This record gives sequence, C-alpha cells and structure tokens, in this order.
Amino acid sequence: MSTAFSDRVDQYRARIGQELMRQLPQATHYPARLHEAMHYACGGGKRLRPLIVYATAETLALDAGHVDAAACAVELIHAYSLVHDDLPAMDDDDLRRGQPTVHRQFDEATAILVGDALQSLAFQVIARPNSLGDSQRLRMIETLAEAAGSRGMVGGQAVDLASEGKQLTLAELEALHIHKTGALIRACLRLACIAAPSLDEARCEALDRYGKCIGLAFQIQDDVLDIEGSTAKLGKTAGKDEASHKSTYPAVMGLRAAKERASDLFAQARTALDGFGDAARPLRWVAQHIETRAH
Ligand code: IPE
Ligand code: IPE
Ligand code: MG
Ligand code: MG
Ligand code: MG
Repeated sequence: MSTAFSDRVDQYRARIGQELMRQLPQATHYPARLHEAMHYACGGGKRLRPLIVYATAETLALDAGHVDAAACAVELIHAYSLVHDDLPAMDDDDLRRGQPTVHRQFDEATAILVGDALQSLAFQVIARPNSLGDSQRLRMIETLAEAAGSRGMVGGQAVDLASEGKQLTLAELEALHIHKTGALIRACLRLACIAAPSLDEARCEALDRYGKCIGLAFQIQDDVLDIEGSTAKLGKTAGKDEASHKSTYPAVMGLRAAKERASDLFAQARTALDGFGDAARPLRWVAQHIETRAH
C-alpha cells in the first residue's frame, strides 16, 4: 500500500466499530438490559488491539477481511477484561473512558454477566465460518484462549490483585505485566500470523518478539500515565495505582527508570522488524503511536 498507515487508522477504527455492531446482539433484543450494557462496555476506547491486528495484516500483505474476526474477538476480550477490572472486588473504579464504569451505570451483577457474555461472544466470533480454514480458526481459538486465560491475562490479574501493598522484585513485576496486558497484545500479532498460512517461522518469531516488547511497554506506560495524567490533570500527587497500593513500574524502579525501560522496549520492538523493510511501516507506526500516547 502506498499511503501511510496513519491515513487509514480512522478507517480501521470505523471498520472495527462496524464489526462490533455486526457481532453484538442488538441492544433491544432479549435480554435487553444485558445487551444494552454489552454495547455500553464496547463503546469508546482507542481500539489499539484491533489496530495492531490490522497493521500486522498489512505488513504480511493480508486482506483485512481475513482478520476482521480476530480483531473483533480481541477487542471483545479486552472490553470484558476492563469491565471486570473495574469491579469493586478488583480495582473498584467508578470511571472508565471518562464515563461511569459498567457496574456504576448498570449494577454489579450486570457487569459480571457483561464480562462473561463478551468473552463467550469473542470465541463465537472466531469460531464462525469465514474466509479462513477450519484449522486456522481452531488455532486462533487456542491462541486467544491461552492469552486470555489463567496463563495469560486472567493469571496476570490474579497476581496483580495479590500483589497490592507488596514490594515485588523487578522480575516478578515484569512477569505480572507480561501476563495481565502483554499476553493479549502479543496475541494480536499471533492471530494475524495464523491468518497468513505461508508465513515462515523466522518472520513469525520476529513479530512475536515485537508483540512481546510492545505489550510490556504498553503496561509500563499505562503505569507512568496513571501518575503523570492524574498529576497533570487534577494537581494531585498520587494516581489511582498509588492510592490502591498497586505494584507498578514507577513504584518499583522510579518514574524515570520506568520511562527508560519502556523506551528500551520500543527500540527492541523496532529492531525485531528490521527484516521486514518497508512492509512493516504499519507496525512501526503502531510502536510510535503507543510510545507517544498521552492517555
Ligand atoms: C487499558 O487499555 C487497560 C490496560 C490493559 C492497561 P487501553 O488503554 O487500551 O484501553 P482503551 O480500550 O483504549 O480504553
Ligand atoms: C488492566 O490494568 C489490565 C487488564 C484489564 C487486563 P489496569 O488496572 O492498570 O488498567 P486501568 O489502569 O484500570 O485501565
Ligand atoms: Mg487492574
Ligand atoms: Mg484498573
Ligand atoms: Mg492502570
């Protein structure tokens, strides 16, 4: 493709929005309150994970149509993870994307069920017959299940909660971040690779390294922005992570070292793309976009 990936980002955001609308049950359908809350949970958001899936597809010269289901499924898992992350038993947050969290807008039981239903829907979306072969769809289901489950995101969330108020070593904190946030971001690359059946192992591994680096860097930055965003916006010294005694990179290694670690990881992610030449421009844009994001 001749033009820059940044020119197509709005199109991809619209595309994933349409795909979500197509896949989510209509908000008026029985049971309407649950479906309405599922739509609410999927509203807004940067759609970063679908963008990574589409950027990887472009890098591999794959038609976007082959990865729509994967992009949608990852966003559904992400949306579910946030609904549960905000629950009183977890981070107990009242606001998400500037709006009341699902349990605040609806109620706690509805929020639990919204998460459950979004997760089921994610797997239904990739399981459904589409332009991919059966074995590709099966591998996608396995990949997403691994990334979302106890050996991925959910496992990381369990450790995150168990680590509140504790002093973790850097290695422990890294493992936590790699699981709770890194696994799903890494899965974005892996899912797109599965859609490209003739991809050789070396390229697949290079993309996996890129995914691992940006996944970890993304959460380090989330921790950094939690401090800098709240300090800048509200004139407070503490973000919500500090208030709830979370184990974060700035807490363990200091703000400056955390930023340096993220910046090293973004550099490593770019190096992983060296063998792809200009084809990887979409993924270089993604790395740059995440690195310079302010929220
Ligand atoms: C927030 O993710 C939660 C983390 C995993 C750090 P995003 O910052 O991608 O959330 P949205 O979807 O854009 O709101
Ligand atoms: C969320 O991490 C990670 C997942 C939802 C898996 P955080 O708890 O740091 O995310 P925010 O800061 O609430 O968005
Ligand atoms: Mg959390
Ligand atoms: Mg949280
Ligand atoms: Mg956070």
